[in-house]
Formats: sequence, structure tokens, C-alpha cells
Amino acid sequence: MTDIRYLEDLKSFKIDVAHISYVMGIVDKEGFLGHAYFGKHIADDDVSYLMRVFEPPFTPERNERDRLSFYDCFPFEYPTHGIGDFRESAVRIETGSGNYANSLTFKSHRIYDGKEGIQGLPATWGNAADTKTLEITLEDREAGIEAILYYSVFEGIDAVVRHTKIVNKSGKTVYLTKAASASLDMDNRDFDKITLFGSWARERHINRTAVNYGIQGMCSRRGEPGHQEHAFTCLMEKNAGQNNGEVYGIDLVYSGNFRTLTERSQFDQVRLMTGIDPEDFRWELKDGASFETPEAVLVFSAEGLGGMSRTFHDLYREHLIRGYYRDKKRPILINNWEATYFDFNAEKLVNIADCASKLGIEMLVLDDGWFGNRFDDNRALGDWYVNEKKLEGGLKKLAEEVNRRGMKLGLWFEPEMISPDSDLYRAHPDWAVHVQGRRPGLARNQMVLDFTREDVTDYVYSLIKKVLESANIEYVKWDMNRPLSDIGSACLPAERMGEFHHRYVMGVYKLQERLVTDFPKLLLENCSGGGARFDAGMLYYGPQIWCSDDTDAVERLEIQEGTALIYPLSAMGAHVSDCPNHAVGRTTPFETRGHVALSGTFGYELDVTRISEEDRKLIPHQVELYHRFNDLVRTGDYYRIASFSENHAFDCWESVAKDGSEALVTCVNVRKTANVKSRRIKLFGLQENASYRLLNEDGSDFVQTMSEEGKTLYFHGSTLMNAGINIPDTWGDFRSRLIHVKQA
Ligand code: DGJ
Repeated sequence: MTDIRYLEDLKSFKIDVAHISYVMGIVDKEGFLGHAYFGKHIADDDVSYLMRVFEPPFTPERNERDRLSFYDCFPFEYPTHGIGDFRESAVRIETGSGNYANSLTFKSHRIYDGKEGIQGLPATWGNAADTKTLEITLEDREAGIEAILYYSVFEGIDAVVRHTKIVNKSGKTVYLTKAASASLDMDNRDFDKITLFGSWARERHINRTAVNYGIQGMCSRRGEPGHQEHAFTCLMEKNAGQNNGEVYGIDLVYSGNFRTLTERSQFDQVRLMTGIDPEDFRWELKDGASFETPEAVLVFSAEGLGGMSRTFHDLYREHLIRGYYRDKKRPILINNWEATYFDFNAEKLVNIADCASKLGIEMLVLDDGWFGNRFDDNRALGDWYVNEKKLEGGLKKLAEEVNRRGMKLGLWFEPEMISPDSDLYRAHPDWAVHVQGRRPGLARNQMVLDFTREDVTDYVYSLIKKVLESANIEYVKWDMNRPLSDIGSACLPAERMGEFHHRYVMGVYKLQERLVTDFPKLLLENCSGGGARFDAGMLYYGPQIWCSDDTDAVERLEIQEGTALIYPLSAMGAHVSDCPNHAVGRTTPFETRGHVALSGTFGYELDVTRISEEDRKLIPHQVELYHRFNDLVRTGDYYRIASFSENHAFDCWESVAKDGSEALVTCVNVRKTANVKSRRIKLFGLQENASYRLLNEDGSDFVQTMSEEGKTLYFHGSTLMNAGINIPDTWGDFRSRLIHVKQA
């Protein structure tokens, strides 16, 4: 049931969808919009008492002398700055006169089927049959400002997506210095919170801490989310875990500077807020102009973290990701980066393709180094024309050779960058982001192109388009290898420089939109020095994102666990690479690397002509596993069974078909524990009364009991889910196994 109602007599809004309710109320006479409830579905409409409006001493109309006490504890749905709510505000507007106090009260609302897009930004989408939207307009009559709050819900999904539009009707120019996408006040809750932290080659590790008093948050000022922090935060009851307890997840559909924070107040109220990071943000709003924030996604789960993850996965798969490959199995690719780095020529690439095609690999991706004078990573970014010294006959010839071997060809770009040593920089030094008169800091010897400028993005796109039209290129890896610094644009006036970061991200979005519109069957994989831009915004343009430059099977367990907390496995770029691993020097079995990568998009990142014969021989089997299981992995429900990051020994997860008819369980024994014979695991998502067979990846029975030889063993779903099965411990570290659970 999806229902959005305005209850005139109660002056409240109630949103019901799937298993959740979201309730807001308008304070009588005063007109403030307050948050009453978000959580598991509730049957009653009249729950405004939860806002505590009538409890003395806080009722403002009855206690004018303590109006500020009211402001400082009322659960404002979109808190403003400067009037006496001393917690973090969602919006801050500077008027021409230098004031910045605002007060927003209810003006009107609108409820309709479907959902509109957000101008220039990625957002979830839905149609009139499965999506409903509520718009609430708040106004500050004195200041002439409106804030329109948008809420959309999708049939069957325990989530509410929100964003905000600020409209200037003041008759003069104002400056927006803060505009959160969403703010959520919860009452008397002693929560833990999970955030994701990391570094290059170590992205999205899980960090669980208490929500303490005061403000705590994650933010990025790098111009992209970055390897280090992530816009996602979840709040969970103290006793909540993987499969139990109440959990609130919030994520932002955005690829730029963000800030997501929690604030626990003196009254144990918790404010959760997300949006563009205000630090470098200042947006000019002329009279009549408006500003739309990125979209925030709010998920509630009464089934612990797992329930939250599955809701995010469904929402992103069904209402965010678009395009030709959205529901399709992706071609198994082989990428030449770790195979050759910059040391390649056409012959080497064709040899790799030749060997790979015979093993069942379906696409060759030519990574960095095919253009301009790019013999190393010190030069040529921006010179997007083929280096024929390396690629004799150009990309057309390479594509023909690759296609002749039954494979597709993919190509790497880093469109946002410019090397000081490039033809582009020599022609247009002002196209690089820089502060006039100051020498900008380099990273990987490169600078960033000013993507706030349309002449710059038009030029870059014209080159990319020409390359893509010159040969049969069916995949693009869009990379981005440095954060933004020394912010300055030759085209933005001083008073609008605070718009730079957001305009930059919108420039990236605009170009990606052009790309996927002009090449609708192109498979776009986003990437940023590994996984520095793995966010919901990028998923709107391409269905998959390179997860990390660290392809070590052990490090990947933690990275992929953190990533899968929010993003579907269908989006996680994961490859088998050579050992010792190039990022950490660890050697793991080829089988284990395969098993871990099979839970992502799957591919190879090695020189297949040079690995050991023993490893090479395993590739056709891995390819077959991919074809056997990818539908399940891509479309199924994800359950985390054991976490190596918590127990430091054993990792295990499961992908289950939506109808419970089959499951794939991946177990990785990372660290052999002495004298452990087997580990008990319980499965999830099966049908209680159905009978299942457990199979090893070679099709033989995964035997649990002594049985008559040749007699197949069946277990009921109830047994597998409640009693569980034993996974024999392995001899040695880094050993893994797949178990296929199949309904008889
Ligand atoms: C960073 C990416 O994550 C790598 O996969 C590779 O494409 C390099 N950049 C190339 O410079």
C-alpha cells in the first residue's frame, strides 16, 4: 500500500509505504512544520503529540516569554538558522542587508502520482503507477523566501526520498550559504551509528560508534566524495545487528562535497542531516531564482542492517540505475591496467585479447595510455587523440582485431583532467582550475579542467565523441584521479565563486548525460582512482563503478562488505588480478580471487598471456560460474552471514533469488584458526517448507551427514535457516568455497 495523505482536521501529513510510516504535523496557529514519526508502519493518524507541542513550558503561543526554549527542542522538519534553534540548521540565507535569520512556516502542499526529476542532478525516478510525491511549501514571509520540501515513495520499498528547493521571492538578490537536502529529528534515542571511512585502496570500511552529544559527521571538501569519507550514515538501536533491530540509513544521490551529520541534543533528541557541505558553498539567488538540492534517501529497517541494505539495493536497482545494461548481465572484461600499465602496443593488446577470447572473456578494456604523448602518468591528459606510435592503425584497427576474436572493446578516459604537459594546456592554460596569480598544487602531476565552463565541457565532449565514433567502442571507463584544490574559475565573478564546486559536479553530470544519450548502448563504468566516487549520483549515469584499486581478495572482503551495505552487487566493479597483489603484495589462491570477484561485476585485471598455466586453466571454469550465477548475484537479495572485519577469521555472504528458489553462499576462510573443524552458518531468504539440495561448484553434493553413497540429500528451508549447516574449515589461509543451494 502506498498512500500519502494530508489530514486537514489534524493538520498533519502521513506517508505510508510498504512497512513504514512517515508523519509530520503543523503547529496550530504558529505554522511550524514538525517531524512526528518515521519508522515501522503505524495505524493511527493522530500522532502529533509526539512533537510535544502541548507540553509546558514549550508551547510558544502559551508561553511567549520562553519562545526560544520551544525552538531549541521542537523537531523542525527543515530547521532554519538564527531564530533560536541552536542545533545545526538545514538552511542559511544571507540577505543583502547582512542578516541570516529565517523562520519557515507552512504555506501549502501538493500530492501527486509519479515524481519529477531534479534540474541538472541525478535522482531516483518512478512512474505514476508505482510512485507518489508530496510537496510541502514553507515560507518566510518577512524574508520573501520559500522552501519546498519534496517527499517521494515507491511501491513496496521501505524508503522515503527527499530534496528541497529554495525559492527567492524577496525582490532582491540573496545568498544561500547552506541548503541541506534533508533533516530528520528523532526523539529520545540512544543510537549507535555506522559510517564508512577509508583511504586509497582501502575504501568504505565500516565504523560503528555511539551517537554522542553534540555534532559528529562525515564530509568531503575534495570536490568528490573521496576515498576517505562517505555520505552514508546509519543510526541503529544499540542492540541492532545484521538481522535484528531498528536501523535508519541515509544516503545522498550526489558526487561532490557533502556533509552528513548527527547531533544529539541536551534532551537526547537526535538530528540526522545530509546535503552539500556548506564550507565552500555560497550560491547567488537573484529575485525569482531557485536552487534545488541533491536528493537524500532515507531507509528504515526493522530487520537490522541486512534489511536496510536490501531496501537500498532494490531502490537503486529499480529506481535509480538506468539504461541498456540496467537489468543485463555485463560482458566479462579483461582490463590491461595491471597487465601492462603504460607499456603496451597493439600487438601486446591483441595477444591478450587472443588468449582471453579463447578462455571465454568477452571484452578487452584498454586503460590509461592510448592517447597523445601519454607514455607515463606525467603528461597528455586532455589530448584525446590516438597515439599511433603505440597503437598502429589506431583504435579502429584494434577494435576490428578484438571484434574478430568475438570480443568487445572498451576504452578508458579521464575527461575532467588536464596535464601541464599537454597540447590542451599549452593552448588553454586558463581552462585549468586555479586561483589567479597562485601556482596550483599538482596531484599525479595533473590539474583539473574547469567543468563549470560550457566551452570547456563542449570541447572535451567533442573529442570523446569523435573517438567513440571512430571505432566500435562499447564500454567507457570514466576515471578521475585527483581531488579538486585551488578553486578558481576564470569565468565566475568573485561573488559567485562559492558556486564552483556544485557547478563543477553539474558539469560532470551534464557530460555523462550527453554521453549516455548519444551512445545509449554504451556500458559506462565510473571510477575515481579506484573507488573515490562510488556514490548514488554516479549510478544514475552508469550501472557500475570501479570499487577500488585494491583487488587483493582479502582487502576486497572489507571494501565490498562496506560497499554492499548500500549499493547492489550489480554495481560493484570487481576483478581477478595477479599475485603478489599490486596494492598490498599478498598472495591468495586464484580460486579465492575468483569467488570474491564473482560477487561484483566480474572481470580480469592481469596479463592473461603471462600468468601461470595453472591459473589460466581455471579461467574457463570461473567464466562458467559467472554465467551460472550472475543472474542470482545481480538480481537477488543480499544477506551478510559472517563478517571478517568483525571476527578477523571468516567471511560469508549469500545472494538469494527473490522467490527463495535458490541461493549462492560464498565462504572465505581468511585466517585458519587452529583446531577448528567446521563453522556453523545459518542461511536466509529460503522458503521454510521447500526442500533444497546443497551443491559444490563442481555440481557434486555438499555433504553434511554420513549418507549412503550416491544418495542425494535434501534439507528443508526451515532446517537451513534455523538449524544451519556446517562449513568445514580449510587447511591454510585465504581458502574459499561456493555453495549452491537449489530448490529440489
Ligand atoms: C585509476 C584507476 O582506478 C585504475 O584502474 C586505472 O584506470 C588508473 N587510474 C589509470 O591511470
